[in-house]
Amino acid sequence: PIQCSVGFVLIISIFKGYSFFELKDHQFPENLLFGVATSAYQIEGAWNVHGKGESIWDHLTHSYPHLIIDGSNGDVACDSYNKVEEDVALLKQLGVDVYHFSLSWTRILPNGFATEINKDAINYYNHLITSLLNNGIEPVVTLYHWDLPQVLQKLGGWANVIMADYFLDYAQVAFDNFGDNVKYWISFSQPEVFCAAYGASKHAPVNVNADGFGDYLCGHTVLLAHAAAYRLYNESYRFSQDGSFGIALSGKWFEPNSTSSEDVLAAYRMLQFTTGWFANPLFKGDYPAIMKEAVAQKSQEQGFPYSRLPEFTEEEIKKIRGTVDFLAFNYYTTEMVANRYEDGRNSDPSCELDCHVNKWVDKTWKRTTTTWLKAVSWGFRNVLLWLKDEYNNPPIYVTENGFADLGSRHDVNRVNFLKYQLSALLEAIERGVNIKSYSVWSLMDNFEWTKGYTYSFFELKDHQFPENLLFGVATSAYQIEGAWNVHGS
Ligand code: NOJ
Repeated sequence: PIQCSVGFVLIISIFKGYSFFELKDHQFPENLLFGVATSAYQIEGAWNVHGKGESIWDHLTHSYPHLIIDGSNGDVACDSYNKVEEDVALLKQLGVDVYHFSLSWTRILPNGFATEINKDAINYYNHLITSLLNNGIEPVVTLYHWDLPQVLQKLGGWANVIMADYFLDYAQVAFDNFGDNVKYWISFSQPEVFCAAYGASKHAPVNVNADGFGDYLCGHTVLLAHAAAYRLYNESYRFSQDGSFGIALSGKWFEPNSTSSEDVLAAYRMLQFTTGWFANPLFKGDYPAIMKEAVAQKSQEQGFPYSRLPEFTEEEIKKIRGTVDFLAFNYYTTEMVANRYEDGRNSDPSCELDCHVNKWVDKTWKRTTTTWLKAVSWGFRNVLLWLKDEYNNPPIYVTENGFADLGSRHDVNRVNFLKYQLSALLEAIERGVNIKSYSVWSLMDNFEWTKGYTYSFFELKDHQFPENLLFGVATSAYQIEGAWNVHGS
């Protein structure tokens, strides 16, 4: 096909502007890593097996099942704790370069503290890691994907800065036990999401701060914890283990509704309050200025003389800045943003995020059958370009991108979604974004937090081609043979 494509078909293609087979100009870089992602609570199951301790998600799903849309939990989930071979075989079949998964803190340290290490957990993860490596798949390991030990929640969880010490102990156990075989570490997955649970969201630890004011405390602790773990890795492990260390942030793209400076600023404010909340301190040493101003102003309006957004000391700034070897980034969707001209301020008490902003999704954007997700690939490209410009072109690992869909015939929605996302990724790469990897959420359908098992990021349930349907390709003599006057023709 390659020889042929540079022959006649290519000529026709050039004249007609068609290529039915081969993409000529645009190729992903050879060393770009492709993979899939999961997280411990969402797939492992075995929630109390071999001494595993209780996490805040075990606690939430068992104590408040009505908060999960189908009343389900991760007690069994995909049973990955018992299915290392099967999972690795699936990965192998998919042909991925990397597998992005998380460790369960309470499996490794059942009571939350590093005083007792669960050998079964160490064996389980080592078995998984070596099986991956034996099959040519690189593990990308997240230390924390939302499942804090319940016992530490009793101390206030991430709203208590002491969590940074407990996290550091846990990270050290992970480096000691798995670090020889793990080259990519991620401290936290999507802190903007799990910290929102210390505000108004219904994720674990639900209702702990029902007044909704703990999210910035959580964020502050997470940044300190991340920096401490990075420095520990850097100083004590990097030389012998030779890996790299990053954090996974999620971000929507916010598209200004017009080119007016008010709308552009409104979109910028949204980016800074979401991705910038964590990326700005890590890359530049402090919270975004626009966030500091808005939270201080809102705090005063609420009757608090001091801002609810904590301040970093000079020493903390030095400790936090520059503690990312790479930025892991999860993109799912885009929103339109306009400054509120007529309505004035939003009356929501925690609205400093979007007090002056209207947000919506365009009705024409393709949506999934089950979710808020809208397939907006240009938003993916735009947010990647924004990260490049805003943070001085860091290496970016796209650790999650996906589309939950149950019902399109022949899975056409998801196939199209992935095609468009990949084109957007390629365009971003061609425009200079330093992309190192792209992983799809997820390896398999799993426990989708408060949505239980009602989302499908992986498998088309209802519509399948008949087993005996034959697939093939077609040509015709004149179009491919050449040798027009050879051997008597
Ligand atoms: C983000 C989270 O990291 C993951 O846990 C979740 O399942 C997916 N996105 C899909 O919502």
